[in-house]
Amino acid sequence: MSVFYPKASKTIVGHKAVREALRDTQTYSSDLQGDSDVRDYRQLPLEVDPPRHHLYRVALAPYFVKPTIELLVPQFRENTENLITNFFKHENLEVGQHLSLPLVMKNLGVIYNRPQDVDEWISWGPDVWTAESEERDGKVLHRYLDAIYEEALTKSKDDIWSQIAYLEIEGQQVSAAEFRGIAGVMLAGGRDTVVKLFTGIMWHFGHKVEDLESLRSNPELIAPAIQEFLRFLSPLPAMNRTVVPESSTTELPDDRYVGMSFISGNFDETVYTNPFEIDFNRGRNPHLSFGFGPHTCLGNHIAEIEARVFLEVILKSGLNWKVTTQDIRYHQVPYAKVPDHFGSVRISRT
Ligand code: HEM
Repeated sequence: MSVFYPKASKTIVGHKAVREALRDTQTYSSDLQGDSDVRDYRQLPLEVDPPRHHLYRVALAPYFVKPTIELLVPQFRENTENLITNFFKHENLEVGQHLSLPLVMKNLGVIYNRPQDVDEWISWGPDVWTAESEERDGKVLHRYLDAIYEEALTKSKDDIWSQIAYLEIEGQQVSAAEFRGIAGVMLAGGRDTVVKLFTGIMWHFGHKVEDLESLRSNPELIAPAIQEFLRFLSPLPAMNRTVVPESSTTELPDDRYVGMSFISGNFDETVYTNPFEIDFNRGRNPHLSFGFGPHTCLGNHIAEIEARVFLEVILKSGLNWKVTTQDIRYHQVPYAKVPDHFGSVRISRT
């Protein structure tokens, strides 16, 4: 998920300050609508404040809780083993396109029990808003959302989209706009973020095989390694809040946006020694990659469990590789060592 907003007039930085601001939803409200170039409805539960926010969270939580996702591990493992085996049959393939994106979409097909949609989701590429061209455009996603909404309302099925279409919030069935907002974020939230996480893991091991060997000898480091990759890669580096809730007035000042820099918390030297090193032995790792406070990522268990399976399969495969070519856009100073966007990462076995 990456949400586009006009530039923030100020940005909150630092681990403590960002956590405090994220908790203070009265001052820093999520009552705002991002991506206004491509959509005219709220992504939910992302763009609504408590107490209403809580109602959406409670309604959606059963789909995202850890025990529910753990049940899917055998299918994640099968997807991961098949894709890794096929990927390494070739030389010099691009990781994002040929491994991370298809894997993340196949796993999502398992989570939502919609295997019939996986090829279509893959065809959109990592970002739903640039599915057809470099230009941001909502058409492709909205065509799909309209089709599944129609299907949910007219065919009596008990799949994920039917359940979402009939969700009740305070006794009221969700509207078509609410359905778009919920289903849209369920499709976009765990897409570019998890693709970036997997591509970043492959990229790192392709430069530093010692870290891969170290995990092979110490599999108890898998869990801390996942947290460390999440911290270092900061797949969603920042999000905005507004100091003027957008449904409170029609006179919206242009300088209402405040950025919440998750990445600044992840590289805060008062919390992390040598933050620009990837270190699987950090111990406590209170990173802000999933945000903090009421809007903490709802898909965090999905990302962590998929990543655990991904690492386990890689370790067991015995494969090593090196990066052959890479086209990476890095963040600006002071995070210039941290990849912001993996344009392409090609690897070959060693
Ligand atoms: C590495 C993977 C991921 C990262 C780094 C990530 C990051 C985040 C962050 C930082 C937020 C908070 C945004 C804010 O405070 O404004 C968030 C919210 C959210 N994420 Fe994720 N996410 C990931 C994976 C997923 C997955 C797999 C899903 C679902 C399939 C998902 C669904 C959501 C939803 C629904 C929210 C909104 C929660 C709310 O507003 O209460 N995310 N994510």
